[in-house]
Amino acid sequence: MAFRSKFLISAFLFIFALNGLVYGAPNCGPIEADDRDRIQFALNLEFLEAEFFLNGALGQGLDSINSSLAQGGPPPIGAQKAILDPLVYRITEEFAYQEVGHLRAIVTRVGGFPRPLLNLSRENFATLFDQAVGIRLKPPFNPYANSINYLLAAYAIPYVGLVGYVGTIPSLNLNTSRSLVAKLLAVESGQDAVIRALLIQRSEELVSPYGIKVATFTNYISRLRNTLAGCGIKDEGIKVPRELGAENRTTSNVLSADTESLGYARTPPEILRIIYASGSENRPGGFFPKGANGNIARRYLGA
Ligand SMILES: *[C@@H]1O[C@H](CO)[C@@H](O)[C@H](O)[C@H]1NC(C)=O
Ligand SMILES: *[C@@H]1O[C@H](CO)[C@@H](O)[C@H](O)[C@H]1NC(C)=O
Ligand SMILES: *[C@@H]1O[C@H](CO)[C@@H](O)[C@H](O)[C@H]1NC(C)=O
Ligand SMILES: *[C@@H]1O[C@H](CO)[C@@H](O)[C@H](O)[C@H]1NC(C)=O
Repeated sequence: MAFRSKFLISAFLFIFALNGLVYGAPNCGPIEADDRDRIQFALNLEFLEAEFFLNGALGQGLDSINSSLAQGGPPPIGAQKAILDPLVYRITEEFAYQEVGHLRAIVTRVGGFPRPLLNLSRENFATLFDQAVGIRLKPPFNPYANSINYLLAAYAIPYVGLVGYVGTIPSLNLNTSRSLVAKLLAVESGQDAVIRALLIQRSEELVSPYGIKVATFTNYISRLRNTLAGCGIKDEGIKVPRELGAENRTTSNVLSADTESLGYARTPPEILRIIYASGSENRPGGFFPKGANGNIARRYLGA
């Protein structure tokens, strides 16, 4: 027994060391970039959200609304219309058009770049959810199958944009930049709050056919994002231990926030590690099989 646990510990340390060698310690500190590059970085997430919500609600993407915003970038892989109840449909449709406005706001103020290739296939979400839960779900998770699955998939998206905007604002030089990003943050955090409020209403419900509670799914997804980003807890599910609740007094956690109930902030490398689902800003994958666009994301891909 002693031998066995010693072996397991050294195997664990070995894997740990290997990870260290492969990825290095994750960079959690600030990065150098100008306002334009920082704002354009957000376009990656806005494209992701626009395509996910437009296709989910309407069965058609950005090209059907205003193809000039995509600047010739390829259409997303595997995005489809979701089977939604009337309320979730109406909300998704509104979010979808909001994202088109966000894209236009950024492109007209600081210029854009071609839409990156996005993987919005069922298979990609299934892989992400397997990674989050830690087992292979059978049948594979299908984000487009019903409202609760779609909301769980949506839980995985605007929050990443939100924490990115919180992280960006203090680094911006121009008041016009700060004004734009504050306005984007306002709506992005509203979207995240709506999604979380809809999920919390159904938090104790079991997601069919997995027998896993809605709340537990959100905790798994948040845990995965914290692991991928590698910079501590900046992401919390809708039901938490009291130490993570507001003033250590609630287990309900309709909003994800720190010990002073302030929003968490993430840097672009942290965000890339999450949206690539690889834990490395140098290794594209996940929603962005060929990487994100713009100077900030591209500098890590050259490396
Ligand atoms: C499409 O987006 C461009 C910005 O790229 C904007 O100038 C144009 O007015 C938009 N067209 C429509 C029909 O909204
Ligand atoms: C999209 O994601 C799925 C699941 O990970 C993967 O099998 C597929 O190859 C991806 N598509 C592209 C073009 O990367
Ligand atoms: C930005 O600052 C300039 C003066 O420095 C001021 O004229 C302008 O109104 C400000 N714009 C915003 C959006 O606050
Ligand atoms: C909540 O608990 C944490 C430790 O888990 C502590 O650092 C923090 O001060 C507590 N907050 C309040 C308001 O008591």
